[in-house]
Amino acid sequence: EKGGYEHFMLKEIHEQPDSLANAIRGRLDFDLGSAVLSGMGTSPRELAEISRVVLIGCGTSLHAGLVGEYAFEDLADIHAEVQQAAEFRYRNPIIANRDLVVAISQSGETADTLAAVREAIQKGAFVMSLCNVVGSTIARETGRGVYLHAGPEISVASTKAFTCQVAVLLMMALKLGRGRRFSREDGYKLAREIESIPELVARVITQDARIARIAEDYAKNEHAFFIGRGPMYPVALEGALKLKEISYIHAEGYHAAELKHGPIALLEQGTPIIALAVDIPGKDKTLGNVEECRARGARILGIVTEGDHETAECMDDYITIPRCHPLVATIPAVVALQLFSYHVARIRGCEIDQPRNLAKSVTVE
Ligand code: M6R
Repeated sequence: EKGGYEHFMLKEIHEQPDSLANAIRGRLDFDLGSAVLSGMGTSPRELAEISRVVLIGCGTSLHAGLVGEYAFEDLADIHAEVQQAAEFRYRNPIIANRDLVVAISQSGETADTLAAVREAIQKGAFVMSLCNVVGSTIARETGRGVYLHAGPEISVASTKAFTCQVAVLLMMALKLGRGRRFSREDGYKLAREIESIPELVARVITQDARIARIAEDYAKNEHAFFIGRGPMYPVALEGALKLKEISYIHAEGYHAAELKHGPIALLEQGTPIIALAVDIPGKDKTLGNVEECRARGARILGIVTEGDHETAECMDDYITIPRCHPLVATIPAVVALQLFSYHVARIRGCEIDQPRNLAKSVTVE
């Protein structure tokens, strides 16, 4: 059932071009330059009235929400914010009737997310879900939403669910953006970029053997820092979560600008810095932070854009992703980090599919 792969996690990473194609299929309308997400069940008037989007989730799904926050603001010109589901539940959230609450959960059973959904419904919000498991509790209770169609995710470490969540969030933002920020022509261009995601991810996966070799040099460390800016900031958080949960290396994700506000004190000779230095706005500033780390002896692994040789040269090691829209780039970038974490954990001999103390779905608050 692992299809010849050593672990479900590796199988699920490699499946991503297919799962993403399934998540995207039939959902782009090139004539209108928009997305068709019938499960959202919204009329054009309802869509036009949405004034704020609140994204809720836990763990990896929370990180997908953080990418979504950039997407809704940047593409759809709608105020968006992300809240950890348990926090949303207990802080007495302010909900107005033109707010859209999007609950993100692979399993659709996460207790904190479910409790937040119930709270939002009770407060009269317009709630929808983004789940993978069909008929799951969150999908049922929200009644509307968009399924990921990623296929069953067995490994505790979430991989294909994250990339499909981001792809669906981009399509939601595209749909909401048409009629607001987006002309048909711009919508068409973004739809084409979204259509190409499976191919972009496949190009990252072809570097698997190279990434496995790079991982050899990072597997002995006990600490690692992931840094990024803009949409690459949530990617840094997700990269750190992936590495810590499967390899037990203490890993932290930081906004690149935050390093010098404290964490830089931890850098020693050879401390790994994984820098999301993809060629998008803000890259030069991230490169400045990379230099600050290098001056303290850090070893730098860069995630860089194909053909950006100058940036690659600033790194001790690098993995490339194809050139694409900055928000779309979060998907191939995270796949590079999934493979890196997987190989580090494999080299360390960890229980990859069933890390200690973790369950696939967390059904207690
Ligand atoms: O099923 P959900 O998406 O609601 O699960 C949320 C988290 O428990 C989950 O993403 C967790 O963080 C993963 N182990 C991360 O790989």
